[in-house]
Amino acid sequence: MRTLITNGTVVTATHRRDADVLVDGERIEAVFDRGQTPVGLDAKVIDATDCFVIPGGVDAHVHMQLDTGATRSSDTFETGSIAAAHGGTTTIVDFAEQRAGGNVLKSFAARFAEADGQCVIDWSFHQVLGGVDTQALIDARSLVEREGVSSIKLFMAYPGRLYSDDGQMLRALQMCAETGMMAMVHAENGLAIDVLIEQAIAAGNSDPIHHSLTRPAALEAEAVHRAGVLSRVAGGAPLYIVHLSSSEALAEVRQARARGTNIFAETCPQYLHLSLEDHLGKGWPEGAAYIASTPLRSKHEDHRDDLWKGLREDELAVVSTDHCPFCLREQKLAFGDSFNVVPNGIGGVEHRMDLIYQGVTSGEISLERWVEVCSAAPARLFGLDNKGRLDPGCDADIVMYDPSATTTISATTHHMKLDHSAYEGMVLQGGVRTVMSRGDVIVDRGVLNARAGRGRFLRRSVPALIR
Ligand code: URP
Ligand code: ZN
Ligand code: ZN
Repeated sequence: MRTLITNGTVVTATHRRDADVLVDGERIEAVFDRGQTPVGLDAKVIDATDCFVIPGGVDAHVHMQLDTGATRSSDTFETGSIAAAHGGTTTIVDFAEQRAGGNVLKSFAARFAEADGQCVIDWSFHQVLGGVDTQALIDARSLVEREGVSSIKLFMAYPGRLYSDDGQMLRALQMCAETGMMAMVHAENGLAIDVLIEQAIAAGNSDPIHHSLTRPAALEAEAVHRAGVLSRVAGGAPLYIVHLSSSEALAEVRQARARGTNIFAETCPQYLHLSLEDHLGKGWPEGAAYIASTPLRSKHEDHRDDLWKGLREDELAVVSTDHCPFCLREQKLAFGDSFNVVPNGIGGVEHRMDLIYQGVTSGEISLERWVEVCSAAPARLFGLDNKGRLDPGCDADIVMYDPSATTTISATTHHMKLDHSAYEGMVLQGGVRTVMSRGDVIVDRGVLNARAGRGRFLRRSVPALIR
């Protein structure tokens, strides 16, 4: 079965042109400049007039039904992948999580069983190492061959839970330097943060804003610096800083890159659009909705402008959501009214493409850069070889995006299983019209046509990541 997507403007990470895309089954067969499309093709036609035709979004950092020990993030793999699809994301990469003393391979198998048969779009996993030891590293290395898992995640935060000390970091990074696996790192100085949290609580400072104040940008920047040094000492491990939120941390990435460190970084829509005072500053209960780590930063500093500039200038390679939703009363507020017991995370998997498109309308980034940071770069960095591009042979994951539409964000209309939205009431320029996943139209004008389980697990390659 062939489909011709016609009359649109094809936009990729490198160019835009008036062109038609021919899809055969699950794959892209050809892209024809307008006027060059063969006449009389035996193909169903999708009219993409007035739309950008772009590669489907790749969200490389999500947490569906994440088990925190006390609760689970509220989106299941089914509801979260449906929400992603509505927002033009056609691939999600979540995490299997090994904890200290736990077995990596068993953690992967257990997490795989949770997602298997649930997603409406294609999906994959990174492997969290929450307890780096000899066996964990042997097993993590074996995941490349066994499961096509080419990335691990390490935490410099959360002592006693997922934390790696510098020795553990170095050993894991040495393994990545040898294998080429990407080391994703949550870069915050967790030991120092825990002291600040203890002191804030002792002083009676329990409001949501103290979540941010006890996680200062300096402690994010320090950890980014240290991770970069350890990556170099390890022999050039591919390093990827997750959810980078501050100017100081970005400056460390810039300096590390100038030194030749093999470092990449992502930011998230919440750090580009939200701020400490407007959101966490609301106090209880609303402020709790915005508690996430890394935290929101002050609008009186330059973080948001600097992050947009970082995206523009390729110091930041990717925008992911770190989608980690918890309902307000039943989850965020269920464990007490102190910031340190609130489950961390913001939901946003549905709105990443729209929120970052605002950077195009405001002139922060180009159309091509939007596609690069939302689709092409995450696919390339994480070894999703058939995603993020509109080249012949690639998976036909294609979004028709209408720049003249408007999208109003509200918990009453979004598809995420979440009783609030961090972006409630925001009116955005642009909107998703049609979403194709491996040749199937799964969303058209807001209507879903996909069954749970049609999404496939994606084995990923080890990309060549010397900058
Ligand atoms: O607050 C967040 N981001 N929660 C999810 C877990 C993590 O640290 O990425
Ligand atoms: Zn994190
Ligand atoms: Zn995360």
